[in-house]
Amino acid sequence: MPQVSSFDLLLFGGTGDLAMRKLLPALYFRHRDGDLPPHGRIFGLAREALSRDRFVSMVKASFANFVAAADIDAASFEAFTARLDYLQVEANTPQDFSGLARALKDSPADVRVFFLSTAPDFFAPICKNLAAAGLVGANSRVVLEKPLGRDLASAQKINEDVGSVFAEPQIFRIDHYLGKEPVQNLLALRFANALLEPLWNRTWVSNVQITIAEQVGVETRGDFYDRTGALRDMVQNHLLQLLCIVAMEPPSSIHPDAVRDEKLKVLRALAPFTPADVDSRTVRGQYRAGTINGLPVPAYLEEPGIPPHSATETYVAIRAELESWRWSGVPFYLRTGKRMAERVAEIVVNFRAVPHSIFPSAGKDSLGNRLVIQLQPEEGLKLFMMAKVPGDTLKLKPVELNLDFAEQFMQRPMEAYERLLMDAIRGNLTLFMRRDELDAAWRWCEPILDGWRASDQMPRPYAAGSWGPAASSALVGRDGAAWREES
Ligand code: BG6
Repeated sequence: MPQVSSFDLLLFGGTGDLAMRKLLPALYFRHRDGDLPPHGRIFGLAREALSRDRFVSMVKASFANFVAAADIDAASFEAFTARLDYLQVEANTPQDFSGLARALKDSPADVRVFFLSTAPDFFAPICKNLAAAGLVGANSRVVLEKPLGRDLASAQKINEDVGSVFAEPQIFRIDHYLGKEPVQNLLALRFANALLEPLWNRTWVSNVQITIAEQVGVETRGDFYDRTGALRDMVQNHLLQLLCIVAMEPPSSIHPDAVRDEKLKVLRALAPFTPADVDSRTVRGQYRAGTINGLPVPAYLEEPGIPPHSATETYVAIRAELESWRWSGVPFYLRTGKRMAERVAEIVVNFRAVPHSIFPSAGKDSLGNRLVIQLQPEEGLKLFMMAKVPGDTLKLKPVELNLDFAEQFMQRPMEAYERLLMDAIRGNLTLFMRRDELDAAWRWCEPILDGWRASDQMPRPYAAGSWGPAASSALVGRDGAAWREES
């Protein structure tokens, strides 16, 4: 990868929530740790008329809320703010882009990164206006934040609009789950160790469970969330990308297209849903009032911005299957929900039980091994093995071999956006979704959305602070399996 010694990062939506909460703190940390190229400017771009000083004050104020004081080093923070600038740019106003072109005219930057952290409706006008102002060249990249469409047709439209200005290798479609450290580690675990590969298939794996449970509700995003729902917000992207990393064949190299080709094969191997499958292989839920961490929280329908009879799902569980030699017949259970009992994101690989037990006191079912890749709240790996409990009887119990990344490596875990922003600046596409992946993910999700729309059933209720509707336990129970917290 060519060395980048200077860059201009143009942050559309520069005063927005994502920029303030995640992107600017992530850039600060990379600056503080000496990873950002020494010459690099970061422009906040938004509709508000703000001076540079006012923008810098906003950034300072938001750091006070979103970055631990102990992590802020005064001298490097000052040096970081010296990189910041602000320009008023309205997506549909060509003159604003001429102003941007003037600001960048004499820039000697090696690369120019346009980060579009705006609603997708603005992607097309922004790209068109960038091109018209002569701002897009061979050294330009565009980073797109989700949601990328609400179905296949709208995703294709976005891709065509952006693709008419940027070539595919210049387009960085973010899925921040791919930037999480444990997901990187799963790649290392699978492809830098020979140990697991012989077991990583239908012969030894009984099922895989991928959970992203959140305790937060829809927060201030009621209007957006109600038009989106859990399937579009989490499954179509984050959960399917995690599934790809678990299920893909070993790529021939870490080259972006080698990895993305293998992920694409997984997405294309997902068994499609018929209307009958939608009933039997999915569960959708919507939270009612309940209690989270001892505090009462309102029902989804009582959240600000939610219409009184909304049928939007805040919880989804799906039994997916892959039509491939490696995985045929192995259920991949996916689930995600808001207002769940705990905040947890993890991948659980359940291995089959021993074929014949010589230990009469241990039930056969308890003899399966289990690998847990924890993404949140802690980052780590646990391998559950059966061991004998000390004593004079042959009593067995699962014990964990535990790799806690924070303890092992003794350093602050890097946030997903730190890695992904550095990759965008350096031009490494490995962790970004290619257009055909996005299409394949939508192709698989669409029949589920269609099936739900055609159904006269409402999402199943679940109490905030629970693990979701009871039907979700039944979904896995039919295979004789149980979600990890139930087993
Ligand atoms: C975002 C979703 O993509 O991911 C949010 O739009 C969700 O609804 C968030 O809360 C979860 O990300 P994380 O990294 O906090 O688990």
